[in-house]
Amino acid sequence: MALWGGRFESGASSMFKQVNDSLPFDQVMASQDIQGSISWSRALAKAGVLTEDEQQQLESALSELKAKADAGELDFAASSEEDIHSFVEAALIDKLGDIGRKLHTGRSRNDQVATDFRLWVREHITSLHADVLAVIKSLLNAASRHQEAIIPGYTHLQRAQPIHFAHWCLAYVEMFKRDLSRLDDLKVRMNQCPLGSGALAGTTFPVDRHAIAEELGFDSPCLNSLDAVSDRDFVLELLFVASTSMMHLSRVAEDMIFYNSGEAGFLQLGDSVTSGSSLMPQKKNPDALELMRGKCGRVFGSLQSLLVTMKGLPLAYNKDMQEDKEGAIDTVNQWHICLCIATEVLDSLQLNEARCREAAAQGFSNATELADYLVGKGVPFRTGHDIAGRVVLQAIDKGCAIEDLPLSDLQAISDKIEEDVYPVLQLEFGVNQRNILGGTSKETVTKALYQELENLDKQ
Ligand code: ARG
Repeated sequence: MALWGGRFESGASSMFKQVNDSLPFDQVMASQDIQGSISWSRALAKAGVLTEDEQQQLESALSELKAKADAGELDFAASSEEDIHSFVEAALIDKLGDIGRKLHTGRSRNDQVATDFRLWVREHITSLHADVLAVIKSLLNAASRHQEAIIPGYTHLQRAQPIHFAHWCLAYVEMFKRDLSRLDDLKVRMNQCPLGSGALAGTTFPVDRHAIAEELGFDSPCLNSLDAVSDRDFVLELLFVASTSMMHLSRVAEDMIFYNSGEAGFLQLGDSVTSGSSLMPQKKNPDALELMRGKCGRVFGSLQSLLVTMKGLPLAYNKDMQEDKEGAIDTVNQWHICLCIATEVLDSLQLNEARCREAAAQGFSNATELADYLVGKGVPFRTGHDIAGRVVLQAIDKGCAIEDLPLSDLQAISDKIEEDVYPVLQLEFGVNQRNILGGTSKETVTKALYQELENLDKQ
């Protein structure tokens, strides 16, 4: 039976129910809906709308329902109720009759859904925070396992300058740290309680909105009833934070897919996170990473979709807003799965340090060192750059590395080059010269790694 049947002469068509009902997906908020109802019943009792006895009966029935919800024992499939709010209220009426019919006094599903969804988002902020932290931990562990390893650093996917593998790990640690801080910010902004805003204009019953907010763990009540029931910024922000973090995951994934390729051969992925080919027996495909990259499509889509849904909606509540849930629920699931699989991939990766070093030493990635060396000899950098470029041409011509050219060849290009250039051209020299804050030298990277490990301990 619909909650709003009185004004209607006939029931909803089955097609209308298909477009209108949200129970198939908003059932994930059962626990939050019941929590909100318990607080609302207490507020009504304090306001003199319910007797102590009525409130207690409601609370004990709601607590029973909550236990069932938490145990996954509520039978939503057998229900014809429209949404989770109607489902819970119908269950109460079923059990308590008229006392159940009193709970909705002064409340609307509009302030109810806004409250439930905030509670749901807040809970997921906490669990997703832990998931992101786990990825940071896995990156730091990978860096710790391979502190000496040097890999090629790329720009334009061309070998540019060698870097420590740990430096690569720490770059992603910075990105995920920002995702964490975005989650924290979102929590501060969204942690206001809509309950007591009614359908749009507030309620006539003298409920204590501060007490309700506090009881539900909110920092304060929402300050404007129209805004409270119409705002879905908190969902949009969650979708943006998830999208940004998924974008970060997709970049980790892309780098690793390339590092894992036969062409690069820098690392092997664990059997547990790869799959084979039904046709080609030799294949071991990086499917987990490809899905971390691929799932960005639906997550970014959900952000875009809700932005478009909210655009131009008149105040206050409109049913369009029911479309806020499916994309958010899916996004939270997918982001969670991707964060978890990222930790498994990182934990199982084996770096081929010798192959990494070999690749890092190729591609004339010490050409910048030569230019910097010439600066040390009093040559202006632009001239040094030009000389180093000509040296690279000569090396390409001879099919060798810069450091394999005899001194006579080098001096034919510039008499500023002397015997002391050779140590400068060694792989580790260039890497460890970048001893500046944020750079890739062994010393800087080790310091940064230990700093991050220490930060992690404090979390
Ligand atoms: N199922 C609705 C939603 O998710 C709940 C609010 C319905 N309110 C209403 N006035 N029809 O948005």
